[in-house]
Amino acid sequence: MNLKYQAAQAALKYLCSGMVIGLGSGSTTAIFIQLLAERLRVGVLRDIQGVSTSESTTALAQSLGIPLTTLDEHCTLDVHVDGADEVDSDLNLIKGLGRALLREKIVAIHAKQFIVIVDETKVVRRLGSRVPLPVEIVPFATLAQVRWLNTLGCRAELWLEPDGSPAVTDNGNYLARCWFPEGLEDAYHLAQVLSERPGIVEHGLFLDMAHRVIVSGHEGILEMERK
Ligand code: A5P
Repeated sequence: MNLKYQAAQAALKYLCSGMVIGLGSGSTTAIFIQLLAERLRVGVLRDIQGVSTSESTTALAQSLGIPLTTLDEHCTLDVHVDGADEVDSDLNLIKGLGRALLREKIVAIHAKQFIVIVDETKVVRRLGSRVPLPVEIVPFATLAQVRWLNTLGCRAELWLEPDGSPAVTDNGNYLARCWFPEGLEDAYHLAQVLSERPGIVEHGLFLDMAHRVIVSGHEGILEMERK
Protein backbone atom coordinates (compact mmCIF):
# COMPACT_ATOMS: atom_id res chain seq x y z
CA MET A 1 0.00 0.00 0.00
CA ASN A 2 1.07 3.57 -0.66
CA LEU A 3 3.26 4.82 2.22
CA LYS A 4 1.68 8.28 2.31
CA TYR A 5 -1.73 6.63 2.57
CA GLN A 6 -0.55 4.50 5.50
CA ALA A 7 0.78 7.51 7.41
CA ALA A 8 -2.43 9.44 6.78
CA GLN A 9 -4.56 6.51 7.87
CA ALA A 10 -2.58 6.05 11.10
CA ALA A 11 -3.46 9.62 12.15
CA LEU A 12 -7.20 8.91 12.09
CA LYS A 13 -7.12 7.16 15.47
CA TYR A 14 -6.33 10.52 17.13
CA LEU A 15 -9.58 12.09 15.92
CA CYS A 16 -12.86 12.21 17.81
CA SER A 17 -16.27 13.61 16.98
CA GLY A 18 -16.68 17.28 17.83
CA MET A 19 -13.03 18.17 17.27
CA VAL A 20 -11.69 21.26 15.56
CA ILE A 21 -8.86 20.00 13.36
CA GLY A 22 -6.06 21.87 11.63
CA LEU A 23 -5.76 20.69 8.05
CA GLY A 24 -2.22 20.90 6.67
CA SER A 25 -1.12 21.11 3.07
CA GLY A 26 0.64 18.81 0.63
CA SER A 27 0.00 15.41 -0.88
CA THR A 28 0.12 13.35 2.35
CA THR A 29 -2.31 15.68 4.07
CA ALA A 30 -4.55 15.61 1.01
CA ILE A 31 -4.90 11.85 1.53
CA PHE A 32 -5.65 12.45 5.22
CA ILE A 33 -8.35 14.97 4.29
CA GLN A 34 -9.93 12.46 1.90
CA LEU A 35 -9.93 9.80 4.63
CA LEU A 36 -11.44 12.28 7.09
CA ALA A 37 -14.18 13.15 4.60
CA GLU A 38 -14.94 9.45 4.18
CA ARG A 39 -15.25 9.00 7.98
CA LEU A 40 -17.64 11.97 8.10
CA ARG A 41 -19.64 10.64 5.18
CA VAL A 42 -20.25 7.25 6.80
CA GLY A 43 -20.89 8.84 10.21
CA VAL A 44 -17.95 7.32 12.10
CA LEU A 45 -16.99 10.92 12.90
CA ARG A 46 -19.43 13.80 13.37
CA ASP A 47 -19.39 17.53 14.06
CA ILE A 48 -15.82 18.02 12.87
CA GLN A 49 -14.66 21.44 11.77
CA GLY A 50 -11.39 22.04 9.92
CA VAL A 51 -9.02 24.99 9.86
CA SER A 52 -7.25 25.17 6.53
CA THR A 53 -3.59 26.09 5.95
CA SER A 54 -3.73 26.92 2.24
CA GLU A 55 -6.02 27.81 -0.63
CA SER A 56 -5.55 24.34 -2.10
CA THR A 57 -6.51 22.66 1.18
CA THR A 58 -9.54 24.92 1.44
CA ALA A 59 -10.61 23.94 -2.07
CA LEU A 60 -10.11 20.23 -1.34
CA ALA A 61 -11.96 20.34 2.00
CA GLN A 62 -14.84 22.27 0.47
CA SER A 63 -15.08 19.88 -2.47
CA LEU A 64 -15.36 17.00 0.02
CA GLY A 65 -17.94 18.74 2.19
CA ILE A 66 -15.74 19.16 5.28
CA PRO A 67 -17.03 22.13 7.31
CA LEU A 68 -14.36 24.81 7.72
CA THR A 69 -13.86 27.37 10.43
CA THR A 70 -11.08 29.84 11.30
CA LEU A 71 -8.65 30.58 14.09
CA ASP A 72 -10.60 33.75 14.73
CA GLU A 73 -13.56 31.61 15.75
CA HIS A 74 -11.58 28.86 17.51
CA CYS A 75 -8.39 29.99 19.16
CA THR A 76 -7.46 26.42 20.19
CA LEU A 77 -7.49 23.43 17.88
CA ASP A 78 -7.84 19.94 19.30
CA VAL A 79 -5.37 18.56 16.82
CA HIS A 80 -3.46 19.70 13.75
CA VAL A 81 -2.38 17.14 11.14
CA ASP A 82 0.21 18.03 8.52
CA GLY A 83 2.98 16.55 6.41
CA ALA A 84 6.63 17.56 6.36
CA ASP A 85 9.57 17.63 3.99
CA GLU A 86 12.10 16.44 6.57
CA VAL A 87 11.91 15.13 10.13
CA ASP A 88 14.77 14.44 12.53
CA SER A 89 14.87 12.28 15.64
CA ASP A 90 14.05 15.30 17.88
CA LEU A 91 10.77 15.74 15.96
CA ASN A 92 12.07 18.92 14.38
CA LEU A 93 10.91 19.57 10.85
CA ILE A 94 11.53 21.32 7.58
CA LYS A 95 8.24 22.23 5.99
CA GLY A 96 7.06 24.47 3.21
CA LEU A 97 8.07 22.92 -0.07
CA GLY A 98 4.34 22.97 -0.76
CA ARG A 99 4.65 26.77 -0.32
CA ALA A 100 2.28 26.94 2.64
CA LEU A 101 4.73 27.24 5.53
CA LEU A 102 3.46 30.53 6.97
CA ARG A 103 -0.16 29.48 7.40
CA GLU A 104 0.95 25.99 8.44
CA LYS A 105 3.04 27.47 11.25
CA ILE A 106 0.30 29.87 12.34
CA VAL A 107 -2.22 27.03 12.55
CA ALA A 108 0.23 24.61 14.21
CA ILE A 109 0.96 26.90 17.17
CA HIS A 110 -2.74 26.92 18.05
CA ALA A 111 -3.06 23.15 18.31
CA LYS A 112 -3.09 21.12 21.51
CA GLN A 113 -1.63 18.24 19.48
CA PHE A 114 0.44 18.72 16.33
CA ILE A 115 0.66 15.40 14.51
CA VAL A 116 3.01 15.03 11.55
CA ILE A 117 2.47 12.35 8.93
CA VAL A 118 5.39 11.32 6.72
CA ASP A 119 6.78 8.34 4.91
CA GLU A 120 10.21 7.04 5.82
CA THR A 121 11.97 8.92 3.01
CA LYS A 122 11.46 12.14 5.00
CA VAL A 123 13.43 11.01 8.05
CA VAL A 124 16.94 12.49 8.22
CA ARG A 125 19.76 12.59 10.73
CA ARG A 126 20.34 16.29 10.10
CA LEU A 127 17.77 18.79 8.86
CA GLY A 128 18.59 20.30 5.50
CA SER A 129 20.56 17.33 4.26
CA ARG A 130 17.92 16.22 1.77
CA VAL A 131 15.86 19.26 0.83
CA PRO A 132 16.38 23.02 0.65
CA LEU A 133 15.01 25.19 3.43
CA PRO A 134 12.16 27.35 2.10
CA VAL A 135 12.02 30.94 3.34
CA GLU A 136 9.06 33.27 2.72
CA ILE A 137 10.10 36.85 1.96
CA VAL A 138 8.25 40.06 1.23
CA PRO A 139 8.20 41.04 -2.46
CA PHE A 140 10.39 44.09 -1.83
CA ALA A 141 14.17 44.18 -2.26
CA THR A 142 13.89 40.49 -2.98
CA LEU A 143 17.34 40.05 -4.46
CA ALA A 144 18.88 41.86 -1.50
CA GLN A 145 17.25 39.27 0.75
CA VAL A 146 18.51 36.42 -1.40
CA ARG A 147 22.03 37.93 -1.34
CA TRP A 148 21.83 38.06 2.46
CA LEU A 149 20.58 34.48 2.68
CA ASN A 150 23.65 33.45 0.70
CA THR A 151 25.87 34.73 3.53
CA LEU A 152 24.39 32.13 5.91
CA GLY A 153 26.42 29.18 4.60
CA CYS A 154 23.92 28.10 2.00
CA ARG A 155 23.23 28.52 -1.69
CA ALA A 156 20.02 30.52 -1.81
CA GLU A 157 17.87 31.18 -4.84
CA LEU A 158 14.60 32.92 -5.44
CA TRP A 159 12.01 30.19 -6.11
CA LEU A 160 10.91 30.62 -9.72
CA GLU A 161 8.04 29.18 -11.69
CA PRO A 162 8.89 27.35 -14.95
CA ASP A 163 8.14 30.60 -16.85
CA GLY A 164 10.77 32.46 -14.81
CA SER A 165 8.35 34.48 -12.67
CA PRO A 166 8.70 34.33 -8.85
CA ALA A 167 6.61 31.72 -7.07
CA VAL A 168 3.95 33.56 -5.07
CA THR A 169 2.51 32.20 -1.82
CA ASP A 170 -1.15 32.37 -0.78
CA ASN A 171 -0.12 35.44 1.22
CA GLY A 172 1.22 37.28 -1.83
CA ASN A 173 4.86 36.82 -0.78
CA TYR A 174 7.85 35.28 -2.57
CA LEU A 175 9.91 32.29 -1.52
CA ALA A 176 13.62 31.55 -1.48
CA ARG A 177 15.10 28.08 -1.29
CA CYS A 178 18.32 27.58 0.66
CA TRP A 179 20.52 24.56 0.04
CA PHE A 180 22.95 23.72 2.85
CA PRO A 181 25.68 21.44 1.48
CA GLU A 182 26.20 19.58 4.78
CA GLY A 183 22.73 20.14 6.20
CA LEU A 184 22.04 22.51 9.10
CA GLU A 185 24.74 22.65 11.74
CA ASP A 186 22.59 24.57 14.23
CA ALA A 187 18.92 24.80 13.24
CA TYR A 188 18.03 26.83 16.37
CA HIS A 189 20.63 29.47 15.66
CA LEU A 190 19.58 29.71 12.03
CA ALA A 191 15.90 30.01 13.00
CA GLN A 192 16.79 32.85 15.36
CA VAL A 193 18.86 34.69 12.74
CA LEU A 194 16.11 34.37 10.14
CA SER A 195 13.37 35.52 12.50
CA GLU A 196 15.32 38.68 13.38
CA ARG A 197 15.75 39.80 9.75
CA PRO A 198 13.30 42.46 8.50
CA GLY A 199 11.69 41.32 5.27
CA ILE A 200 11.90 37.61 6.12
CA VAL A 201 8.29 36.72 6.80
CA GLU A 202 8.78 33.13 7.99
CA HIS A 203 10.99 30.11 7.45
CA GLY A 204 10.35 26.41 7.12
CA LEU A 205 12.05 25.33 10.36
CA PHE A 206 9.42 23.94 12.73
CA LEU A 207 11.44 23.41 15.90
CA ASP A 208 9.99 22.01 19.14
CA MET A 209 6.52 22.16 17.65
CA ALA A 210 5.46 18.63 16.66
CA HIS A 211 4.03 16.46 19.45
CA ARG A 212 3.90 13.26 17.46
CA VAL A 213 5.41 12.10 14.17
CA ILE A 214 3.88 9.13 12.37
CA VAL A 215 6.35 7.53 9.97
CA SER A 216 5.16 4.93 7.50
CA GLY A 217 7.74 2.55 6.13
CA HIS A 218 8.08 -0.75 4.40
CA GLU A 219 8.40 -2.39 7.83
CA GLY A 220 5.20 -0.75 9.13
CA ILE A 221 4.28 2.33 11.16
CA LEU A 222 6.64 3.98 13.63
CA GLU A 223 5.35 6.70 15.97
CA MET A 224 7.69 9.15 17.64
CA GLU A 225 6.34 11.21 20.52
CA ARG A 226 7.74 14.35 22.09
CA LYS A 227 8.99 13.60 25.60
C1 A5P B 1 3.46 22.33 2.45
O1 A5P B 1 3.88 23.65 2.44
C2 A5P B 1 4.47 21.46 3.11
O2 A5P B 1 4.88 21.87 4.36
C3 A5P B 1 4.05 20.02 3.11
O3 A5P B 1 3.51 19.62 4.32
C4 A5P B 1 5.28 19.25 2.83
O4 A5P B 1 5.83 19.80 1.67
C5 A5P B 1 5.00 17.77 2.64
O5 A5P B 1 4.32 17.58 1.46
P1 A5P B 1 4.02 16.14 0.88
O6 A5P B 1 3.10 15.49 1.84
O7 A5P B 1 3.39 16.42 -0.45
O8 A5P B 1 5.33 15.44 0.74
